[in-house]
Amino acid sequence: MREEKLQELLNSLSMTEKIGQLVQVPGPVLEAQGQELGIRDDLGISEEIIRNVGSTLNVVGADQIRRVQKAYLEKSRHKIPLLFMADIIYGFRTVFPIPLALGCTFDPKLLKELCAATSEESVAAGAQVTFSPMADLVRDARWGRCLESTGEDPYMNGRYAAAMVEGFQEGLQEERAGKGMASCVKHFAAYGAPEGGRDYNTVDMSERRLRQEYLPSYKAGVEAGCEMIMTSFNTVDGIPSTGNKWLMDDVLRKEWGFEGVVITDYAAIAELIAHGVAQDAKEAARLAMEAGVDIDMCTGCYANNLEALIREGAIDEAWLDRAVMRVLRLKNKLGLFEDPFRGADAAREKEVFLAPGHRALAREAAVKSMVLLENKEELLPLSGEDFRGGKKIALIGPFADNRDALGMWAIHGDKSAVVTVKQALSEMLAPESLACAEGCETLLEEDYTDLTAVYAQTGKSAWNPEKRKEEMERALALAAESDVAVLALGESEIQGGEGGSRTKLTIPGDQMDLLRRVRKCAKKVAVLLFCARPLVLDEVKELSDALLLVWYPGTEGGHAVCDVLFGSREPEGRLSMSFPRSVGQMPLYYNAFSTGRPYDGRTPIRFFSRYTDCANTPLYPYGYGLSYHRAAYGPVRLDSRTLNREGEITVSVEITNESGRAGVETAQLYIRDVTGSVVRPVKELKGVCKVFLEAGEKKTVSFRITEDMLRFYGKELRYESEPGKFRVTIAPDSSREPEEEFVLV
Ligand code: GLC
Repeated sequence: MREEKLQELLNSLSMTEKIGQLVQVPGPVLEAQGQELGIRDDLGISEEIIRNVGSTLNVVGADQIRRVQKAYLEKSRHKIPLLFMADIIYGFRTVFPIPLALGCTFDPKLLKELCAATSEESVAAGAQVTFSPMADLVRDARWGRCLESTGEDPYMNGRYAAAMVEGFQEGLQEERAGKGMASCVKHFAAYGAPEGGRDYNTVDMSERRLRQEYLPSYKAGVEAGCEMIMTSFNTVDGIPSTGNKWLMDDVLRKEWGFEGVVITDYAAIAELIAHGVAQDAKEAARLAMEAGVDIDMCTGCYANNLEALIREGAIDEAWLDRAVMRVLRLKNKLGLFEDPFRGADAAREKEVFLAPGHRALAREAAVKSMVLLENKEELLPLSGEDFRGGKKIALIGPFADNRDALGMWAIHGDKSAVVTVKQALSEMLAPESLACAEGCETLLEEDYTDLTAVYAQTGKSAWNPEKRKEEMERALALAAESDVAVLALGESEIQGGEGGSRTKLTIPGDQMDLLRRVRKCAKKVAVLLFCARPLVLDEVKELSDALLLVWYPGTEGGHAVCDVLFGSREPEGRLSMSFPRSVGQMPLYYNAFSTGRPYDGRTPIRFFSRYTDCANTPLYPYGYGLSYHRAAYGPVRLDSRTLNREGEITVSVEITNESGRAGVETAQLYIRDVTGSVVRPVKELKGVCKVFLEAGEKKTVSFRITEDMLRFYGKELRYESEPGKFRVTIAPDSSREPEEEFVLV
């Protein structure tokens, strides 16, 4: 529909119809309303508004969407189609590894591909907007939503956010409707920095830190053309994002030029009352509308107060029109006026759900996101030959045959389609070469406060002492007679995700006891770690011969684990987040400031920035990961030591594959700005190059350094570079200090 037609449509709407477009209700409210007119919902929204709501969330499925849309339009005077939005974070029916795992691929192109595949499945299921990517920078593993983040680096998070937006929205602009979903970048802003790592807690930081470290990833999503932004639950400089005009209008709209739709997070307008910046729903509605929030997700604040606020002159009707126009434009861009069902097609669902190509992509992504943390005496890769009749593997642990390990936000995934490690090993090995035992439960009462309630809801029950003893002994017997004990251990899915904050970063339940006892009786121990956040692995490191971090690897996780265990693929992942020695180190991140008393980790003197009971360094640093090939990095060379503002210098390193096995190396460029008008991190990732090396091959990897790469928010908060000394390195992870110097003149 042309713009002027949209304007006519807007002008034809009543106040109630306009307000309705800015209200989103949960599917069941609409679904119920769709079947029996007049169902009052618990949001306190009138029937008249419900009949005119603009969108709904997490209603998916071609048949269901068609039914709800049809029922809605039949009762609608204005015939403006509903917008169907959903949490399709890292896959639809085909579930990919969690974003924190995908952040280990250092391959934004891959993320774009898997988001495009996700869109293909989602559009067939009628979804039109996805609440993804989550672009929140994370530095505190106690926060459960590390799961959904791509990690602790601003540069990589920006590249990933842009790639995911492009992937989800691929084809959206094409004439032929039905391709691509609108992408909603969230949670704007800095939701990943809650004090204490406790979800929904206070976020408070300087504008400099916000701009320098937290905003770049959202901005990259906006620059990639995302159609929507979601406000975050947290405060920014004392004002919750959802009512924060500086953030939503001055920064997002005026500075960044964002013209899309702003939606709140779930019930976030009403939460302005609990935050203490609004005395009631009416004031909350006013604050949100002033800030520039367009859609109220699942509260009655807009529905029940906007009309009065306009009548009283507390808000300008022009703001209402502006917000409604943004929603109409998005519906128009999605082609809904021409086809309200836009690609929702049950036949197409059958073609694309879990399509072989999507499964293959899921397997590829899982292999590329796994991180080999330990491999003593090169235990891995195992030789497949050995296990076709001769040697034996004991596969032990609660994640050996676990279909739940998809992560909390795989809500549209098909768990029955998950390939577990047990299934994949059984496909590959002779029956006499594989024995399996669960060994113990994932977690116990002491690990999860509400576990009894959760079990009651899900019909599960804790093992009784006899079962715990029996299962443990059965597992130990298998371990004792095996050549390799493969332990599939990890953090329970319910411990991560939204609301999943922890004060401990342990592998829960009896799992560590299982590992300790297997260690005593098994010849070799390889641990597969399933988790959604960094955990403290010091004891696991000591007890295992090999330690492979598999995260929650998605639908094809079992096959990918086998590919890596038996070496048909090598683990390519490099850590997207630092793994600590202790939870007491939180927050922990590689790009930290020097402090006035930097500790070198050696000098036994007290008065330095250090702990008396733990090293400062992570157990495994950002960017770290072992491979099956062995790469040696030569000295870093610069073609000049002086960088002019308009010029560039090239920094290179020679990488030699000293092993007999080809592999992919992830070379990382780190730069340090030695002196600035404000303190600068001891290093910052400024480039990544993945390079394939044949056995014995030597290749030169080069990066161009230009002045724009050196810009930052200085003393006056202007984003610019400052002349002076810089140090640079190209390294396999973030533990190496940049040494080679150059000067920006
Ligand atoms: C949740 C999450 C957000 C999600 C939204 C809709 O509370 O914070 O990420 O998209 O509500 O389900």
